[in-house]
Amino acid sequence: MELPNHGANPLRLYKQLGITPPQQVIDFSENVHPFGPPTFLSKKWSEMLPLIGSYPDPDGEPFRTAAAEFHGVKVAQVATANGAAEVFTWLARRYRNQKVVLIEPAFSEYRQTLEAENVQIEEIQLHAANDWVLTEEHVANTIQDCAAIYICNPHNPTGVLVNMNVLQSIAKLCLTQECELIVDEAFIDFIGEKASFLPFLNDFPNTIIVRSMTKMYAIPGLRLGYVVSQEKTIQQLKQGAAHWNVNALSAAIGADCLKQTDYRHNVIAAATIERMKMQQFLTSYGCKTTNSAVNFLSFQLPVSKNGNLFLTDLLKAGIVLRHTETFRGMDGKWFRIGMKSAENMEKLREAIAEWLEVN
Ligand SMILES: Cc1ncc(COP(=O)(O)O)c(C=O)c1O
Repeated sequence: MELPNHGANPLRLYKQLGITPPQQVIDFSENVHPFGPPTFLSKKWSEMLPLIGSYPDPDGEPFRTAAAEFHGVKVAQVATANGAAEVFTWLARRYRNQKVVLIEPAFSEYRQTLEAENVQIEEIQLHAANDWVLTEEHVANTIQDCAAIYICNPHNPTGVLVNMNVLQSIAKLCLTQECELIVDEAFIDFIGEKASFLPFLNDFPNTIIVRSMTKMYAIPGLRLGYVVSQEKTIQQLKQGAAHWNVNALSAAIGADCLKQTDYRHNVIAAATIERMKMQQFLTSYGCKTTNSAVNFLSFQLPVSKNGNLFLTDLLKAGIVLRHTETFRGMDGKWFRIGMKSAENMEKLREAIAEWLEVN
C-alpha cells in the first residue's frame, strides 16, 4: 500500500486509500496527548496577542533562558527552533556529503533531511525478535568513518528506552571514534528528566540533544523545539537557521510551559495507565506489543490475520491507527497507537476486539 510518511493526517490517509471518512473519526496515528495545552494558555491568550505586533527575539527569548534554567545548563548551550524538526535540517547541513548512522525503523524526517544534503546513510536494523533493543555491539560495528549517529530515545515508533548504561557506553565509543552522538529526546518528557542524557553532556562533549515541546505540551501547531550541546556546536548549528526562526508567541508560551510541573505529572500518569491497559488487552488477544515506556506503543496482529484488511476496516469504523509501511523492519505488519482519552481508548479496544473476533 502507498501511504503517507507521517501520522497525524487522517484525511489524507482516507483519501489515499479511497475510503470515505465516517462522521466521527478518532485519530490514534499521532502521538500528541489528548488533554490539550496547559490551561494558562487560554487564560493568557488575549494578553499575549500584542506579541505578534513586533518582531520576536532572534534567539527565541524568553524561552531560551527558561530551557537553560530548566536543564541547569548555560544559555549559550541552547538554541531554539521551529520544532525539533528544524534542528534536523541544521544537523543534516552539518553532515553534508558525509556518512551518518540511522537506527531503523526510524522517524522519517531523519532520512529525508539527510538525503537532501547528500549524506550517505549507514543503517542499524533493529528486530522484533530482539524486542527492538539497541546494543553497544550494533553501534561498535557501524560507526567507523561516520560523522554522526542518530539515536531516538525513547525510540519512535517502538517507545523502547535505551538503558542508560548502554547509552553511556555508546557515547564513549562515539567519543573515541570521533562520531557525534545525536540523541532525539522528543518523547523523553513522558518518562521525565531522570531518563534524559542531558546531565552527561559535559562528560561527552560530542553529544547533541534534541528536544521537542510539541508532544508533552500538546502544541504541535505552534512549532517549538530546542537543541542542547557545547557552546561552539550550538553556534555552528544556529548559523543555518532563518533569522527569527521562533515566533514571539511560541517563545512566550514555551517559557511558561516549562513551569507546569503538575501538568507534566498528570499527563505522564494518564498516558502510563492507558498504555499498560492497552498492552494487557493486546496481549490477551494474542498480539505482540513493543516494550514501550511512553505515550504510544506498536503492536502486531496474530500471524493468521490480514493487516491491510485490519487497517482499512478500522478506518471505515472511524478508527485511525498509524500504519508502519514506511518504518523499515515493521513494513506494514505493525501498527502504532498514540494514547488518547480513557473513553477513546475503550472505543479502540472494542473495535479491535470486534474485528479480531470476526476475522
Ligand atoms: C521522534 C521524533 N522526533 C522529532 C519530531 C519532531 O517534533 P516537532 O514537532 O518538535 O518538530 C517528531 C515528530 O513527530 C518525532 O516523532
